[in-house]
Amino acid sequence: MKKIKVNDIELAYARQGNGKPLVLLHGFPLDHHLWDDVVPLLEDSFDLIIPDLRGFGDSTTVDRPYTMDDYATDIAGLLDQLGIQKAAVVGHSMGGYVALAFAKSYPERVSGFALVSSQAPADPPERKEGRYKSAADVQEKGIGGVVETMAPKFTVDLRLQAIAREIMGRQQPAAYIGALKAMAERMDSTSLLSSFLFPVVIVHGDADALIPVDRAREVKASVPHSYYVELKNVGHVPMLEAAKETAEALKSLA
Ligand code: MLT
Repeated sequence: MKKIKVNDIELAYARQGNGKPLVLLHGFPLDHHLWDDVVPLLEDSFDLIIPDLRGFGDSTTVDRPYTMDDYATDIAGLLDQLGIQKAAVVGHSMGGYVALAFAKSYPERVSGFALVSSQAPADPPERKEGRYKSAADVQEKGIGGVVETMAPKFTVDLRLQAIAREIMGRQQPAAYIGALKAMAERMDSTSLLSSFLFPVVIVHGDADALIPVDRAREVKASVPHSYYVELKNVGHVPMLEAAKETAEALKSLA
């Protein structure tokens, strides 16, 4: 794992493989290890850049509020320092919200784009309220409650739940709190989708218990040129549940 100073933090990232640059952004509340199973399947096709988003993994924990735009600016700063002008950007779930913020601010830097188990709309009021309640719970009691609520929603596969639980269990409370608030305050990106001129890939499990597959079908409808892969009996973590199919879909960005 390497570290680079971007904006006000040290951002940790892994870099592996050869080919066109492809950034893999993990979801909440995880880190770059989420992608471990697909990295070997993609490293012959891409120069993979796999950061820990601010607060998560080995990146600096930030105690003040931040937004999806801050996460996106971190990625732009990372690419700047690596001398990469343009990259394909892949986001899983919350990483997809970061990818959308990146595409909004830096469209000229996007060579391709993928949403894995993600969505474009902002939170409805009750979901937003739930995020703030979860953030308060984490502040008061720690991360255990969120970990136990989320693990079974990621996947029905108990072995993969254990992997997800382990990654979630390593993250700092401040990363949870910062991300929950950033997700609650994120903008609606629905209208942004129609401006996407670069190749777009959508990967979603039809058994996703966290973000219903209908959200992915809506993205497909808004971006008719997108390559849409709906995975049968797969939940919220296709990179773990169907690594081969997920990697194959992403290879269309090479
Ligand atoms: C994620 O997996 O990143 C989150 O569940 C996304 C969300 O809660 O909206």
